[in-house]
Amino acid sequence: MSDEKKVAAVILAAGKGTRMKSAKHKVLHKIAGKPMIFHLMDTVKKTGCDKQVVVVGSGRDQIEAALDATDSNASLIVQEEQLGTGHAVMSALPALTGFGGDVVILFGDTPFISEETMARMLSERTSARQPAIVVLGFEAVNPGRYGRLVTSDNGLEKIVEYKDASDEERAITLCNSGMMVIDGEKIGGWLNGLSNDNAAGEYYLTDIIAAARADGETVAVVNADEAEVMGVNSRSDLAAAETAFQARVRERMMAAGVTLVDPMSTFFSHDTLIANDVFIEPNVVFGPGVEIETNVTIKAFSHLEGVQIEKGVSVGPFARLRPGARIGEDAKIGNFVEVKKADIQKGAKVSHLSYIGDAVVGEGANIGAGTITCNYDGFFKYKTEIGAGAFIGSNSALVAPVKIGDGAIVGAGSVISSEVDADSLGVTRAQQKSIKGFAASFRSKRLAEKGKK
Ligand code: UD1
Ligand code: CA
Repeated sequence: MSDEKKVAAVILAAGKGTRMKSAKHKVLHKIAGKPMIFHLMDTVKKTGCDKQVVVVGSGRDQIEAALDATDSNASLIVQEEQLGTGHAVMSALPALTGFGGDVVILFGDTPFISEETMARMLSERTSARQPAIVVLGFEAVNPGRYGRLVTSDNGLEKIVEYKDASDEERAITLCNSGMMVIDGEKIGGWLNGLSNDNAAGEYYLTDIIAAARADGETVAVVNADEAEVMGVNSRSDLAAAETAFQARVRERMMAAGVTLVDPMSTFFSHDTLIANDVFIEPNVVFGPGVEIETNVTIKAFSHLEGVQIEKGVSVGPFARLRPGARIGEDAKIGNFVEVKKADIQKGAKVSHLSYIGDAVVGEGANIGAGTITCNYDGFFKYKTEIGAGAFIGSNSALVAPVKIGDGAIVGAGSVISSEVDADSLGVTRAQQKSIKGFAASFRSKRLAEKGKK
């Protein structure tokens, strides 16, 4: 921000969102794993905003619960009846009593307005002409039903909603994004003066532009890229928003030195953190909470979520890393391996077909193909501790709680339910029998029987 003026954000989210056909509130639908309204609120927070007010209609409980799960201290205002954007902002004003600063209006379903654009709008407010309102406009490729910005040499004169516009006004391609910065001292008066005498029978927020001009104020327009002001009204818009977000993250990752063999098939979460010189093969999905250090390879068709991966690790192909996993330096997680809430320490190898959950796998341990930590008895979860340098033979079941000591060996095919001491062998296989000639005599007997039939 270019000066010390206080700023409050009012985020409108009372609309019904009918076109989503969802029991979930529209603004809680996720983009890259984060509810769309939180994308917006996080950006708002970064601009140094002092206060956030969210205006909701139905579905208030859902938004309240979602906000409770974050560290946001936004206030919620309920707009019982949705009588228009002007009415919505009016409903929010009681939450701003005595605030006095600027008021930024945003739409909860328009999540991608950048910090840079918000900052440009706020600094425009303090520019030489001292505009009382700054509106975020954009040149629409297809202006459709957006409100049109009617400008003159003095800046913005008014906004005309599509429904109320003349043919001449409809030909304007400079459109209203919905975002505005408004002088907080004057907003109340202008809102009080609104009428709903228009084609939609609504109290339009956009009518405050003409009201400000009538008071002799100037109104400025700041332009944004159309991509920044895209709104989400349907599942199809949601998919388009996801695509746009992913495209930006992929570019950012590659610019930071991450190789994406096939960027289009790599999907990131809003919070994925990856160091340079990480190599990512096609078809990899990142859920929330993944952090990867340098020199790591993630092979094709892997799914990662809530995992910390240290340098030099190799993961996949077809690996699933779940919340609470930490993969230590130079460790290897191979194909068809699932790891959950487990600490795989430096240089350990889990190369094939295993489930490792609620476990510690010590430094340099080797977990054979098909090893399963049996961590759950149907009621509670228990821990498996595997010591450094231990060797777990293939197809072993480790029934937790259980400990395998440092340097111990577990014989292939064992079901281990009690502690194996350090440097010992634990094996629970039945003794092998050998019956000399059995196979040959079995075969000739059966062949003879078959011949008789
Ligand atoms: C609005 C603008 C239009 C602009 C367009 C950009 C007005 C009158 N029109 O039109 O100029 O081009 O957005 O997308 O402002 N909302 C409430 N309470 C209400 C009504 C709306 O909270 O009573 C919220 C909605 O949830 C939504 C936002 O305000 O987040 C915009 O409402 P919407 O009905 O979509 O406005 P548009 O007709 O699209
Ligand atoms: Ca809309």
